[in-house]
Amino acid sequence: MTNPSEVDVDPARLGASAAGAEAAALRGELHRHSWLYYGEDRPEISDDEYDRLLDRLQRIEAAFPELVTSDSPTQRVGAEPQDRFESVAHVRPMLSLDSTKEASEIARFHDRVRKVLGEEVEPVYVLEPKLDGASIELVYEDGVLARAVTRGNGRRGEGVTENLRTISTVPLRLRGDVRAVPSLLALRGEVIMYVSDFEAFNAGLVARGQEPYASPRNSAAGSIRQLDPRVTASRSLDVLVYDILAVEGDAFATDTEGIEAIRAWGFHVPERIRTARTVEEVVAYHTAFDADRDDLDYEIDGVVIKLDDVAARDAMGTTSHHPRWAMAFKFEPRKEVTRIEKIDVQVGRTGVLTPVAFLRPVVVGGVTIARASLHNRDELERKDIREGDTVRVQRAGDVIPQVVEVVEKGADREEPFVMPTECPACGTTVYVSGPRTICPNRFGCPAQLKGRIVHFGARDALDIEGLGDETANLFVERGLVRGLADLFDLTVGQLVELEGFAEKSATSLVDAIHDKKEPELARFLMGLGVPEVGRAVAADLARHFGRFESVRRATPEQLEAVHGVGAKMSEAITAFFANEQNDAAIQAVLDHGVRPVESEPAPVQPVEESAGTAVFTGALPVSRDRAQEAWEAVGGRAAGSVSKKTDFVVAGENAGSKLAKAESLGVPVLTFAEFADKLRNLGGVVPEVDE
Ligand code: IVH
Repeated sequence: MTNPSEVDVDPARLGASAAGAEAAALRGELHRHSWLYYGEDRPEISDDEYDRLLDRLQRIEAAFPELVTSDSPTQRVGAEPQDRFESVAHVRPMLSLDSTKEASEIARFHDRVRKVLGEEVEPVYVLEPKLDGASIELVYEDGVLARAVTRGNGRRGEGVTENLRTISTVPLRLRGDVRAVPSLLALRGEVIMYVSDFEAFNAGLVARGQEPYASPRNSAAGSIRQLDPRVTASRSLDVLVYDILAVEGDAFATDTEGIEAIRAWGFHVPERIRTARTVEEVVAYHTAFDADRDDLDYEIDGVVIKLDDVAARDAMGTTSHHPRWAMAFKFEPRKEVTRIEKIDVQVGRTGVLTPVAFLRPVVVGGVTIARASLHNRDELERKDIREGDTVRVQRAGDVIPQVVEVVEKGADREEPFVMPTECPACGTTVYVSGPRTICPNRFGCPAQLKGRIVHFGARDALDIEGLGDETANLFVERGLVRGLADLFDLTVGQLVELEGFAEKSATSLVDAIHDKKEPELARFLMGLGVPEVGRAVAADLARHFGRFESVRRATPEQLEAVHGVGAKMSEAITAFFANEQNDAAIQAVLDHGVRPVESEPAPVQPVEESAGTAVFTGALPVSRDRAQEAWEAVGGRAAGSVSKKTDFVVAGENAGSKLAKAESLGVPVLTFAEFADKLRNLGGVVPEVDE
C-alpha cells in the first residue's frame, strides 16, 4: 500500500469515511510492523517511520474519536485508571502443576503414563523451561484481544486487560497471514520481567527512596496488578505463551503443533522447547538448564514435562488441581555461603518474635541478601546457628531467604542465641506457644503497630506508595500514629518535621494516603490483617459478600458458604471481628471516611447448593476430564478422592476403592446416565461419548 502519511492531509479535513479507511489501513500496517519487530526481530521500517505512522493514526483518532478501536496500537499507552479489577471467570480452569525435584518421581510419572496409554505406545514429551513469573490468560475473540485475566484461584481471576494491552509483545490483534485466525482463542502464558530490566527498575526505586521488589516475579505480578495502566506501561515486561487453554475454529493433535500456531499468531514462546522420549533425556534437559540458569536473563525454577499428544492427555485426565499429563521438574533452590554477623529478634504485626540473621551481603541467583529468617526457637536450636558462623543460605522463588545449615562454626564460638523473655519492642513478658514466642501486647506494642501500618499500605493491600518500613517506624516512634485511623489525620506540616521528608515528598505521601480512601474491598480486607486471609481469600470474600459490613457481621456458617473457606478460617475471621479492640480500630478507620468499594454480592453460587462436589471413578463413556469439565461448567466441583464432603460419586465399569469408600460412607453413587440427567437439569451439556 502507499504510505498513508505521504498524503499528509490535516485529519480534521478528511471526510469520515476517508478517515475510517485510512485509520484501518494504518492499524493494519502498524500491526504488521509490530509483529515483524517483536515477533520476528526483522523490522522492515525504522523506529522513526513507525512512530510517524503511529502519530498519523493518533491524529486521525483524535479528530474522529468514534474510530478508535480496542485493538488500535494507539491504545498501548495506557488507559484511564480504574477503581478496581473485575472478577472474571476463565474460559477453562487454569490448573497448576504437580511438582517434584526428584528424577525418580519423573520415572514414576513415565510409568503411570505408560500404564494408562498401554505399553505398546511410546509417549512423546514436550520439555520447556518453567518460567518464574505471573501466570496470565489471554482471550482473543475473532482475532482481537478481548480480555486478559490473572490466574486468581484457578477458576476466576482479575481482569487486567488494560494493563496487558500496554505490553508491546502482546498482539492486540492476532497475526493471520501464516495461520488462520480462530473465532475464539484462550491462551496461557507467563508475564515476566527480564532480570536486567528488574535490576535497573529496582535501582530506580531505591534511588527514589521507595521499597524495591523482592524478585523479578514479584515485580512482574505487581506490575500487572496496577489500577493505573500507565504505570504498567512504564515497566518493561514480556509475555511468553506456552499453552492453548481453548480454541474454536481450529484443532491440534499435538502440543508441538499448538506451539507452532502460537508462534504464527505473533506471540513470544519460551525458548529451548524440545521433545523427549525417555526419562534420561528429561533428566539431561533438566541438568543442562540448571547449569545455564545463572546465565539466563529470566528466572526459571525448573522445567516442565508435558505429554505432546492431545488424545493421550485426554486419556490421562486431570485431578481437580492439576493435569495428570504433565509435571514440573523443579530445581534445587539456589544456595550460597556467607557469614552471620549478628542475630537479632524482630516482632511482626501479629506479635510473633522471629530470630533474624544479619548476613555479610551475598548475591544468591541475582538478588543480594543481607538478612535471613531463622524462623523460631526450635529451628535455631536444631540447626545450632550462632553469630560468627559460616552458613549456607538459600532463596527459593520469592520466598524469604533461609539459613539452611552451618558450614563452618565460628572461631571461639559464641554462646547459643537465646530468645528474649521480654518483647524487645515494648518490654512485655512474652509467652511461648509451641515453637513460637509471642508478645501479647497486641495494641500497645509499637513493633506490632508498625507491622500493621506497613501491612495496611502494602502493595497487595491499600498500595500506599511511600509508606514503607522506615516511614512507619518514624510515625510510631514520634507518636503520630497510634492506630491505623491516625494515618488519615497526618498533615504535610507534621511530615516535613520528620527526617527524610521535604515539602514535596510529604505532600505526595499525604495525597497517596487520601487517594486510597475508596479501596477495593479485597484490598481493604487484606490490609486489615485478618488472620488466615491472604490475597486469594480476600478476593473470594469480597466477591461473595460485596460489602464490608456483610463480611464484618458474617456468621461462621455464612463464611463457610464461600468456596475455599473452612471451619478453622471462619473461626479465625469471626474472632478477629468480634475482638473489641479490633472492632474499635476498624470503626475508627471507617469514621475517617474510608469507604471500601461495594458491589453486588455474587449470587450464592449453585456450587454447594445444587451442583455439589462429584468424584468420577471407573471407566466412563467419556474421559474423566471431559466429565469434570462439564460438571464444572454448571458450577460443580470435581474432587479426586471420596470423603464425607463428597455429594455423589459417578461410577463406571471396574470402579474400585473409591466406589467402596462411597458405599461405606453412604455417599450416593450414580451411573453415567443418571449423571447426564443431572447435568441436563442444571442446564449443562452432556459431553459426547468418546469413540
Ligand atoms: S503448563 C495445566 N508450562 O508454573 C498446565 N506452566 O503450577 C498448565 N509455568 O503457575 C501449566 N512455565 O503459570 C506450564 N512452560 C510452562 C510454565 C508453566 C511456568 C507456571 C504456571 C503455573 C505454574 C505451575
